[in-house]
Amino acid sequence: MFQKNISLKKYNTFGIDVNAKSFVSVTSLAQLKRVITTFKDVFILSGGSNILLTKNLSKPVIQINTKGIEIIENKSDNNTVLIKVQAGENWHDLVLWCIENDFGGLENLSLIPGNVGTSPIQNIGAYGIELKDIFYELEALEIATNEIKTFNKKACNFEYRNSFFKNQGKGKYIIINVTLKLTKNNHKLNIEYGAIKTEFETNKIDKPTIKDVSNAVIAIRKSKLPDPKKIGNSGSFFKNPVINKAYFESLKISYPKIPHYMLPDDLVKIPAGWLIEQSGFKGKRFGNAGVHKNQALVLVNYDNATGLEILDLARKIQKTVLEKFNIPVEIEVNII
Ligand code: EPU
Repeated sequence: MFQKNISLKKYNTFGIDVNAKSFVSVTSLAQLKRVITTFKDVFILSGGSNILLTKNLSKPVIQINTKGIEIIENKSDNNTVLIKVQAGENWHDLVLWCIENDFGGLENLSLIPGNVGTSPIQNIGAYGIELKDIFYELEALEIATNEIKTFNKKACNFEYRNSFFKNQGKGKYIIINVTLKLTKNNHKLNIEYGAIKTEFETNKIDKPTIKDVSNAVIAIRKSKLPDPKKIGNSGSFFKNPVINKAYFESLKISYPKIPHYMLPDDLVKIPAGWLIEQSGFKGKRFGNAGVHKNQALVLVNYDNATGLEILDLARKIQKTVLEKFNIPVEIEVNII
């Protein structure tokens, strides 16, 4: 069942060509448990959409490829439905399935690359919604004990692009399924985001459905973000940094149009894409690595870049932004 010495190029959306000494794609929990009992120290691969591979992998690489979407609770007397989704399901396929079934909540998260099992790790988010808003619970295999543990929302400790699984839980659990709480019939749409409104105006939609929201998000993402099937990338490479209000006010003097989102506690979030663009990197190419022309937050692999080439560019960007704005920008993608 293990393949020996294979290239991981087609298993990561950056399209980085590193070698895995051994590789197996698991399709059932029983198979996963058997593999974990044999090899405790493994590398877990999901959709490969939030990693930058910088070296060959000598640990066994386990791709989670379990499938299944199940409605586990659908009472006729309320407006919610619980669906349990196996980790190996593709995220966007799930979004489309929900829209077809008229289950609301995921439409703003359309077209995010990757699989369901990794969506809680970085608490995926876009256009005003984060996974935590529709999350109910998940089950994960604890590697040390080979036992299944249930995590409710609180236990996951979700934050902006962060969770328990990126911190204390890192490397200790394998998420095997995720249960989401969605609406049926009476949906609560999140359409405050400017670009979504503009899409509706352009297409003369005044009573949007969840499908309209999904279509708008797909159109916006396609216009800004590169398709990983055509040009290797991992979405936002950096997190949007948070600064204090006093520093924000001082920056506003030199940059009156600085985009920002006000947060509680006198904090302000600044789009890293803007900082990177102002630092002169947008659309620039450095060898095989580059900064996307429509969204400076996204680093791209033009042609057989190595992970280290991409990482070098990321470090150069961090250094320049720090020198120019005195703001550290943190890498969001997992560097392996
Ligand atoms: N901006 C620039 N230059 C750029 C990019 C952005 O000036 O090159 C400015 C825009 O003009 C806008 C602001 O920055 O005023 C925000 O840009 P955008 O709406 O594109 O969102 P973002 O903050 O750059 C975040 C997420 C994206 C998500 C969008 C939409 C993070 C790290 N990224 O980007 O997530 O799709 O909001 O909600 O929070 C991802 O995680 O892979 C991802 C794509």
